[in-house]
Amino acid sequence: MLDVDDLSSAQLATVLDRATALKSGRDLTRLPRTTLAMLFEKPSTRTRASFETGMTQLGGHAMFLGPEDIQLGHGEPLKDTARALSGYVDAIMARLFDHSDLEILAEYADVPVVNGLTDDAHPCQTLADLQTIREAFGGFEDVSVAWVGDGNNVARSFAVGCGLAGLDLTVATPEGYGLGEDCIERAAEAGGEPTLADSPKEAVADADVVYTDVWVSMGQEKLREEKLPAFEGYQLNEDLLADTDAKVMHCLPAHRGEEITDDVLESDRTLVWEQAENRMHAQKALLVELLE
Ligand code: CP
Ligand code: NVA
Repeated sequence: MLDVDDLSSAQLATVLDRATALKSGRDLTRLPRTTLAMLFEKPSTRTRASFETGMTQLGGHAMFLGPEDIQLGHGEPLKDTARALSGYVDAIMARLFDHSDLEILAEYADVPVVNGLTDDAHPCQTLADLQTIREAFGGFEDVSVAWVGDGNNVARSFAVGCGLAGLDLTVATPEGYGLGEDCIERAAEAGGEPTLADSPKEAVADADVVYTDVWVSMGQEKLREEKLPAFEGYQLNEDLLADTDAKVMHCLPAHRGEEITDDVLESDRTLVWEQAENRMHAQKALLVELLE
């Protein structure tokens, strides 16, 4: 699963149903003697801990392979890593910079490959986000979500996921930092194009949930000075949200005081801890669907 539209709408619904059933303990499916390789080029708290704990709970095992630990970090090509790992493990989860590297990994691996974040996409986050919205509102019908901020990897997968789920999405991104035409087309193909708002205030006006993420993603540190001025007015703060009782979402980690204020993140509006927990349930469900 390189991005969320590798699932159909029906498959997405199945994964979300199973995530809820695993979370409640109604579904006791296990994956004994199953090993997941976890390949990381970038740091992680949630992705690493949720996949590893999830595999333990399923009766399997997860193996952390950091950039310095394996030959990949010392010049061995991904296509060789993919074929060697395929001889040992049942699935590979990878967090890589270039999305095209993930495609190479998937091409050469003969076990399922799951995207744990690339510069372009973060589909496991989308699964958890959709589960969180469904739990908070009892479904997707009549729920409106606003994305305010960078049209980054998290935003792009979420927009396509909203299309698949039939969730109404409005997006406010600064000039030059939008979702990209390709993403908007894929969201339309998945089932629904996002509405593009002219300003953050317009985007949040009718929203039940407002979602944001960092303005400077991992690997973009050198662009910080260039990017930040464009995001003036895009912070999730109580001024922006004054006329709405919308909930707030953030994939975390958050840069408090930048894209979101501490008081908003810590307020009753927040769904961020549900999102973080649901990473584990949604990913367990995905792994069961891929491997059972
Ligand atoms: N949201 C998310 O993927 O967090 P980590 O970078 O901690 O894995
Ligand atoms: N957009 C962020 C998400 C981190 C989980 C990044 O890529 O750094």
